[in-house]
Amino acid sequence: MTVGRDPGGRLTYDEPDYGDEGGFRVAGRAEAGPVSPFGGARHPDPCSVVMFGVTGDLAHRKLIPALYDLGCHGVLPAGTTLVGYGRRELSDAQFRDLLQGAIDDHYGVEGVDGDVCRLVLEAPRYVQGEFDDPEGFARLAALLDELDRQGSRGNRMFYLATPPSQFPVLVEQLGAAGLARPGAGRDPDAACGWTRVVIEKPFGRDLETARELDRVIGQVFDERQVYRIDHYLAKETVQNLLVLRFANVIFEPVWNRRYVDYVEITAAETLGVEHRGPYYEEAGALRDMITPHLIQLFSLVAMEPPVAFDADAVRDEKMKVLRAVRPIPPESIADWAVRAQYVSGVVDGEEVPGYRDEERVAPDSYTETYAALKLVVDNWRWQGVPFYLRTGKRMARRVTEIAIHFKRPPVLLFKDAMASGGLQPNVLVLRVQPDEGFSLTIESKVPGHDVALQPVAMDYSYGTTLNELPFSAYETVLVDAMEGDMTLFTRGDQAEEAWRIVAPVLEAWAQRPQRDISIYEAGSWGPEAADALMARDGHSWRQPTKGDGT
Ligand code: BG6
Repeated sequence: MTVGRDPGGRLTYDEPDYGDEGGFRVAGRAEAGPVSPFGGARHPDPCSVVMFGVTGDLAHRKLIPALYDLGCHGVLPAGTTLVGYGRRELSDAQFRDLLQGAIDDHYGVEGVDGDVCRLVLEAPRYVQGEFDDPEGFARLAALLDELDRQGSRGNRMFYLATPPSQFPVLVEQLGAAGLARPGAGRDPDAACGWTRVVIEKPFGRDLETARELDRVIGQVFDERQVYRIDHYLAKETVQNLLVLRFANVIFEPVWNRRYVDYVEITAAETLGVEHRGPYYEEAGALRDMITPHLIQLFSLVAMEPPVAFDADAVRDEKMKVLRAVRPIPPESIADWAVRAQYVSGVVDGEEVPGYRDEERVAPDSYTETYAALKLVVDNWRWQGVPFYLRTGKRMARRVTEIAIHFKRPPVLLFKDAMASGGLQPNVLVLRVQPDEGFSLTIESKVPGHDVALQPVAMDYSYGTTLNELPFSAYETVLVDAMEGDMTLFTRGDQAEEAWRIVAPVLEAWAQRPQRDISIYEAGSWGPEAADALMARDGHSWRQPTKGDGT
């Protein structure tokens, strides 16, 4: 389905087909429906989607619009109901208005309604209760039984979109209310239904708390029921990385220490911390982005080929490479990690305040809004190849990319031709966002009598071949969880291993919060200390400009 706008600015949809069942498209009839990036139409089971934290920022900005978009894509089957559970007193109708508001905000127009909205909004339900109140959970259980009878067939997805401090109590209450068991519904026809719990990052705030969280979860749920979300893994080009590596023969032979010089993984944002000051003050860039997202991207780049494209095989290979990451030496953290905080500057032509002047941020905060990390991998494939990871808020440009820098040729034939600029080694850049696609720079001859060289980019942009990306990252994770596909979710042992990798850095930074923290101007590419981190190895960070394939 394509979403467009009419001349009045209202959203339009091409030919939605709702089938006969109360306004929902029937999954089994969605032959022409959207196709998974790995093939096959998506046919999730009907289920009750129970959302905790439904009045929060994440639900408002990402989850509700993603459910709505799944409705637009014709993916939600009849019998699927969104259930909100929260402390606020809301009627079902007020809850519906809240959902409508989130969808309107997302699309920037008021009153997005029409038939498509019915897919998400027709009959949402709301249960008021404290997170530690057994009676609230008993009311939730009764409602879920009712929904099972109406068509959710005993399938329940519990989505924990609350602050992480609430995860343990929610998990415990779900267990105590008997809601964690698969087929927990009391309707005998629904006895074979599934029960899954979807958990948002961060999974703990260090190795110890991650282990404790896993222990609590493990007492109530089986690991096969636990979906730890990393929405980065669901981004289209991240998935394409696996296809690029393992569905083509030309990349894998050079994907190793013989040919690769170094790898850069960047997630730069132009946004600041928005309304999330209190969360961010506790988290900082290393916990917020590097541990959950960039280390996962790193593992996809560096892992060995899996024996199959299934959850266990892929996650086993990722785990192996994470375990091969050399421990960062506590005595020389500054050679491996850099942190910094932005001061005021200009982003996208607008003056923006420094981090310490942001809403609900301490005026003397030392929380890092930028972090860079160097990793080395002690295995045969990658020995001696550094991986540099960096992320920052209020950077010069919003860009997430993986850049594989190849080595120079062993013999340089064109010394004279290179006199001007020198030979530029090949770089393969996978652009995760925006302008999704990839490019390979290669040296080429400048047309003419002389032999002069210049780098040119072979560029592939998703936008040129597809009118729209098939699914947003949150649509993908939601539908994968509904279908029981765990490939893109982080396993407990991987989350713990990521904390193991960053533990020495976190410890050193916590011991000396004021030491070694640099500043960078909002709208820049980060602090000088990060340039120095690369320069020590003879490298420098890329500074991608818009539409830059190189
Ligand atoms: C979240 C972080 O996980 O990812 C945010 O908590 C960050 O701080 C966001 O802004 C970035 O996601 P995306 O998809 O916009 O790149």
